Amino acid sequence: MPSILVIDDNPSVATALDLLFSLHDIDTLRAETPQDGLQTLREHDVDLVIQDMNFHADTTSGEEGIALFHEIRARHPDLPVILLTAWTHLEAAVDLVKAGAADYLGKPWDDRKLMATVNNLLELAETRRELAQERAGEQRRRDALLRDYDLRGLVWADAASGNTLALACQVARSDIPVLITGPNGVGKEKYAEIIHANSHVRNGPFVALNCGALPGELIEVELFGAEPGAYTGAGNKPREGKFEAADGGTLFLDEIGTLPLAGQVKLLRVLETGRFERLGGNRERTVKVRVVSATNADLSELIADGRFREDLFYRLDGIELKLPPLAQRPRDILPLARHFLPKGKRLGEDAERALLRHAWPGNVRELRNTMQRAALLAQGDIVVAGDLNLHGAGPAARASGADEPGREAIEAALERNGGVLAQAAAELGLSRQALYRRLDRHGIKRD
Ligand SMILES: Nc1ncnc2c1ncn2[C@@H]1O[C@H](COP(=O)(O)OP(=O)(O)OP(=O)(O)O)[C@@H](O)[C@H]1O
Ligand SMILES: [Mg+2]
Repeated sequence: MPSILVIDDNPSVATALDLLFSLHDIDTLRAETPQDGLQTLREHDVDLVIQDMNFHADTTSGEEGIALFHEIRARHPDLPVILLTAWTHLEAAVDLVKAGAADYLGKPWDDRKLMATVNNLLELAETRRELAQERAGEQRRRDALLRDYDLRGLVWADAASGNTLALACQVARSDIPVLITGPNGVGKEKYAEIIHANSHVRNGPFVALNCGALPGELIEVELFGAEPGAYTGAGNKPREGKFEAADGGTLFLDEIGTLPLAGQVKLLRVLETGRFERLGGNRERTVKVRVVSATNADLSELIADGRFREDLFYRLDGIELKLPPLAQRPRDILPLARHFLPKGKRLGEDAERALLRHAWPGNVRELRNTMQRAALLAQGDIVVAGDLNLHGAGPAARASGADEPGREAIEAALERNGGVLAQAAAELGLSRQALYRRLDRHGIKRD
């Protein structure tokens, strides 16, 4: 049951309020002087205060009420307060109310209006409390991650990132193969490094191979090595492959979706047996390698097209680590932006707003490049919106298609707003009609 403290020197005020509140299942505490009131606040859990502005029959200045209000604020910054005031003190009350979590009503009050105000403020206080608890929980989790793991300087603030990171750290210590998925520049390689740094093989090498960077035959040479003369241009020296180089450590297979089918067969065999041969060689080699792979392609689509082996997929995908696009973890944006600025440079307020409005199709990499460029362009210590060169930030530019929110951004906005179209549209900077059209275009269901 919520409880309200009434501080008024006139006992009949408290009696009337007590009666009113008891009809609404609210507990009433009473105090007749400011000192009593503050004492009660020390001793009891109070959800809301209703206070008078004068506490002596012969004073009308409102000074005592103002002083009391400030004392309550100083000790309980989030406690909602309703000032009950004679109309002559309205101006002072309005000023105080601007200090937040407060409202005022003239005496004599209207019961319905008073109850509406009380309920509003109680709800507000409840929301704030929940938010504060959530933030405190997030902070504790953050401290624990920083204490227990090597996070390779990862920057994050959003709860969505906290979830991903906690999962990454947890799987790092097991031997499960990890498949990291997510669009361009979200931090897939960064997470691969984190997994290695917290694994049993952290003292071994971390070797990365971009499967998309080389043509079919050479990728096998890269993976497994080659004996002299094994392929055109092989030269006369034996060549060590990445599997050998990563022995006792982690092999990071980036853009795994682009690995040609022949390479996939061989990769599957190593993963199953730990054994392979160099190209053109016949000596079987054995390695112990932790494999972490990454892709920004939809592997199930590639499997359906016959371009990726399903058995290999199940080998790699012991656990999938899905990295959300930057737009789906907005609280990461400003901390990351500050992180990428050189020392001595700061973000102006307009720049912060522009950063938060931008859709970040290139994710963290785009943000990093934007900040590096902005730091060069900035005239002084403060980076302003113009330095960011974010064409297409904001709704106006969106109308021209420069910053069109993609399917993912739209789906994320719908999810965040519980499917409420008007809210999702507002967040995306679109009209409701414009959002409807995009739902149709992307074939997104309106449920
Ligand atoms: N949370 C983060 N904190 C600090 N730096 C980050 C973070 N996420 C990404 N970065 C940095 O952003 C850049 C891009 O990240 P990374 O290369 O890991 O992305 P990626 O998903 O592998 O991209 P691609 O799909 O293009 O290969 C890197 O310089 C990386 O160090
Ligand atoms: Mg990468």
